[in-house]
Amino acid sequence: IAEKYLGQIAAAGDGDALEAIRVAALGKKGEISLLLKTLGKMTPEERQTEGPKINGARQAVADAIAARKDAMESEALNARLATEKLDMTLPPPGAPKGSIHPVSQVMDELAEIFADLGFSVATGPEIEDDWHNFTALNIPETHPARAMHDTFYFPQTDEAGMAKLLRTHTSPVQIRTMMDVAKQTNGAGEPIYLIAPGRTYRSDSDATHTPMFHQVEGLVIDKGIHMGHLKWTLETFVRAFFERDDIELRLRPSYFPFTEPSAEVDVGFSVEKGRRIIGGDSRSNEGGWMEILGSGMVHPNVIRNCGLDPDVWQGFAFGCGIDRLAMLKYGMDDLRAFFDGDLRWADHYGFDA
Ligand code: PHE
Repeated sequence: IAEKYLGQIAAAGDGDALEAIRVAALGKKGEISLLLKTLGKMTPEERQTEGPKINGARQAVADAIAARKDAMESEALNARLATEKLDMTLPPPGAPKGSIHPVSQVMDELAEIFADLGFSVATGPEIEDDWHNFTALNIPETHPARAMHDTFYFPQTDEAGMAKLLRTHTSPVQIRTMMDVAKQTNGAGEPIYLIAPGRTYRSDSDATHTPMFHQVEGLVIDKGIHMGHLKWTLETFVRAFFERDDIELRLRPSYFPFTEPSAEVDVGFSVEKGRRIIGGDSRSNEGGWMEILGSGMVHPNVIRNCGLDPDVWQGFAFGCGIDRLAMLKYGMDDLRAFFDGDLRWADHYGFDA
């Protein structure tokens, strides 16, 4: 009986055929299993001669099935090894590489440009109080920027009863720095040259406004500072940032409560191949001006509010939208894409670390 099955096992073409043979021989109702059950009804003498034979057959068939199964598996493996080739000399695929977000990239560029001009980098909290964000900056109670629809206020006030809010600009860093300097010098004051890049918040959203955006503040406090210093600094910064010497700046008279006089600053652009290019001929047919920042001479009230003497110290300040700068420099058209978290977008503008 074993011979019959051994022959079938040797001829089995695949795992399914092998399994069918196992069931027929060794399954619950298999031929050999049924034979084993007959041992119970035999006389002890019969059992002595038949038992080893039947058990031997069971063992031989079980072993043959296991051996054939092993052989089939190694055949399959050999077939795979023959067709699938792995070149161990190739470099590994490599982990996906992160890159710097355009906004971070621009912040780094700004810090570098201003470091060359002797400015240090300052920071301040994004959750501000009403006094640093508005009052100390000479912004009157009635100013529209204080309205709920422009500013994100927290429902609770702080321990001193002061309204808490998400800062609407980086200008409160001016206040914090000047107050620190006044405190450290006992009101005597010392020169300040700083930029303060960071997140700012306004309740606003369309293609060129997002509720969270980035600004860089600039503040210079020294003796004998005037508008000429402001204009030279901005011109030097913008030309370095856009890497062109032919960039023109236009200062337009404007109004901010914390600067007097105040100026909004536009950069001239030309159009090349249908695309706006910062620099070039702003007076050509399609060229024009684009606003990039607000600036002015720090208002004496602001200097006084911080504990410094405005008759001794003067300065200028500016506040510039970083996202706007990135859009202009790298040719992006929708500000909202900056904060969508779409990695395809980030990849497209991938700046290698
Ligand atoms: N804080 C102003 C704004 O957010 C910009 C500004 C900064 C203007 C400093 C003048 C001086 O619009």
